[in-house]
Amino acid sequence: MMLLPKTLGWQMEYDGWNPEQQQHREALCTLGNGRFATRGAFEGASAGDTHYPGSYMAGGFNRATSVVSGRNVENEDLVNLPNWLCLNFKPADGDWLDFDQVEWLEYKQVLDIRHGTLTYRLWFRDPAGRETRLTSQRLVHMGDSHLAALHWQFEPLNWSGKLVIRSGIDGGVENLGVARYRQLETKHLEVLEARESATDSVTLRSMTNQSRLDMAHAARTRVYRGGELASGVERQLVEENGFIGHDIELECQQGEILEVEKIAAFYTGRDRAICEPALDAEWAVQRVEGFQKLLECQRQAWERYWHWWDIELEADTNGVLEQQLVLRLHIFHLLQTTSLHTIDLDVGVPARGLHGEAYRGHIFWDELFILPLLNLHMPEITRSLLMYRYRRLPEARWGARELGLRGAMYPWQSGSNGREESQFLHLNPKSGRWLPDTTYKQRHVNAAIVHNTWRYYEVTGDSEFLGFAGAEMILSIAQFWSSLAQFNPTKQRYEICGVVGPDEFHTRYPDREEAGLDNNAYTNVMAVWCLLTAQQALDALSPTLRSDLLEYLGIDEAELQRWDDISRKMFVPFHDDGIISQYEGYEQLEELDWAGYRERYGDIHRLDRILEAEGEDVNRYKASKQADVLMLFYLFSAEKLEELFNRLGYNFAPEMIRRNIEYYEARTSHGSTLSNIVHSWVLARSDRQRSWDLFDNALMSDVADVQGGTTKEGIHLGAMAGTVDLVLRGYTGLELRDGVLWLNPLLPQGLKQTQHKVHYRGHWLTILVNHTRLVVSLEEGLCPPITIGYRDKLYTLEQGQSLELSYYE
Ligand code: BGC
Repeated sequence: MMLLPKTLGWQMEYDGWNPEQQQHREALCTLGNGRFATRGAFEGASAGDTHYPGSYMAGGFNRATSVVSGRNVENEDLVNLPNWLCLNFKPADGDWLDFDQVEWLEYKQVLDIRHGTLTYRLWFRDPAGRETRLTSQRLVHMGDSHLAALHWQFEPLNWSGKLVIRSGIDGGVENLGVARYRQLETKHLEVLEARESATDSVTLRSMTNQSRLDMAHAARTRVYRGGELASGVERQLVEENGFIGHDIELECQQGEILEVEKIAAFYTGRDRAICEPALDAEWAVQRVEGFQKLLECQRQAWERYWHWWDIELEADTNGVLEQQLVLRLHIFHLLQTTSLHTIDLDVGVPARGLHGEAYRGHIFWDELFILPLLNLHMPEITRSLLMYRYRRLPEARWGARELGLRGAMYPWQSGSNGREESQFLHLNPKSGRWLPDTTYKQRHVNAAIVHNTWRYYEVTGDSEFLGFAGAEMILSIAQFWSSLAQFNPTKQRYEICGVVGPDEFHTRYPDREEAGLDNNAYTNVMAVWCLLTAQQALDALSPTLRSDLLEYLGIDEAELQRWDDISRKMFVPFHDDGIISQYEGYEQLEELDWAGYRERYGDIHRLDRILEAEGEDVNRYKASKQADVLMLFYLFSAEKLEELFNRLGYNFAPEMIRRNIEYYEARTSHGSTLSNIVHSWVLARSDRQRSWDLFDNALMSDVADVQGGTTKEGIHLGAMAGTVDLVLRGYTGLELRDGVLWLNPLLPQGLKQTQHKVHYRGHWLTILVNHTRLVVSLEEGLCPPITIGYRDKLYTLEQGQSLELSYYE
């Protein structure tokens, strides 16, 4: 049973040492700033089964080749960086503190979400009976994104004597965070140089062994007694196996508190405003006054984010944990992965954050669940994330060309330069077999990129971005969809064959050798939507820009005609009178004995693995890992879908939505954490209680590790952002259409009131919603008035004004 943390205001507290859950706690106690992040492992711990002290930088990838089943396989990984944490102590005649070897008198691990600190409050007795209290606090700086720091209060309670403190930087680390990847190449780093840069400081220069990412870490460690630098301190330089540091020796007295302070800096050759990474790292640690000063400005930096990002929730607590705290935790981890520092970087959002090594730090379609939230707070971050995709357009063009297609086809998994990074074999830990992985055929990732680009444009009206980058991406992807769609004369419709939809359990027909399915409804409808959006994007450009771009991309009138034709004649499969088939032929699959499997296995999230281990194949069954058809109801309003389906000549009545939800809900295992978000969202209006329950499941994805052992390998950022977005847009009915911000609130019963801010067209709006009224107020500012829509009525709001509407008027 997962032991949940206590929630105390803005703090999450783990009480008691629990080795089995330590790595899970470490992932959730990760501290970061959008440039780099460090897991919440204790600083004295080394990587193993209990602890895993990983650090990762945004965009810090490296490739390595491994031999799997006799084949050479190249993987690109988010590299585990040299460990800056390393700090431990021992009595001169004793052992280094080892969590498993001491007797715990008190153990607390406290994450302060408001100010971005992690504190270990420890009181322990070593095998020789020595009792010590140690309070360790750390931060990864949200203001100066190069800095991190640790602070100790160290008190020998019943002993005195010589103490050794070891502090340094470990470059001998590997990527060992995910057990099932350990059979593959794990070494990505070379230490170039390790030096003592001052009596109290060391520097470690390292480089990734393939991508040649030039990095430097510097660390300064000082010991204080009574607030003054401690005297009588001796230092020995220690250099071994990629580690450099000092053994700091001094006498300690029973009952006397010593303070140890470690300031670390991390620079790379890709940083701006630097001379050379090592020089700048060394200078940065020398420049810092001390831990307390850093802590002060860390607090200010976080307060600035929270001012705009906080959501205040009044809710009936469904479970043990307060929804309020968990929502804040989700915002916290989102901002630690992508923050205003991202604007300076060439990075996307890794699906598992900068919190672990699962999925190798790759970037998937999960941004679809993340960017809408960024749009409504700090759209400049979205723009930077979209530029990550724009810069990889040439590689996406190559991706399409290789398959004999036109336009640009973005990869399912993206890393450094935008080539396809999906693995082609994966290990089923349940059966121990390596199996072909064909989930890379999820071409719908391209629709997600168009969606993200267009939504950004709708929120911001940023026509410069649309003009120089956005429209080119949208049109290039439209070209790709147009060349992928083939006209079938028998059906008299266009088709998209050989793809995989969002549901990763279904990758081929049970009776076919080759991978891929035909006419995945989500993919086909999204392709149509992309083609129509491409037309809208063209309409939004000036005539010169428009003709230049069309010429540059080789798009002629005939091609535009074809887009229009596809948008009227794309095939969408249906069965059972109004159920949209997940893909063509889905209705012929067998029904699974859900109750039987639940009874036999308990947790059946990963039904695919269970079935494969039984010698079965999930492809045979009507059993989905996650929302697929329902994604359509998640992304579009009923009116928009009616418009799209009617254009295609299909009947679409909004009442079909409910039936489709029921049909697929009964056939979904929620093996992806994204799934609960979508299901909760689509039920928000029709079944408020069920929606609230699913929201709660989604909220618990990581804190309670609902997938059983995945969170320790990295958080699920799509689900985290998705829960926040559910409150922000889902339950308030916030929609941006035709230059109007529409609100249509309907809170679930369990949620009494929410209040939050959103950024829209240069304004900061505060939106308060409860079961009787809606209040929107605008901060003072300089931007032109905006239009708010509620129940077919439009209201113009100027800076400093408020609008209060009662639902019963
Ligand atoms: C899900 C995908 C998702 C990926 C990364 C998979 O388990 O099925 O939809 O993109 O995880 O989060």
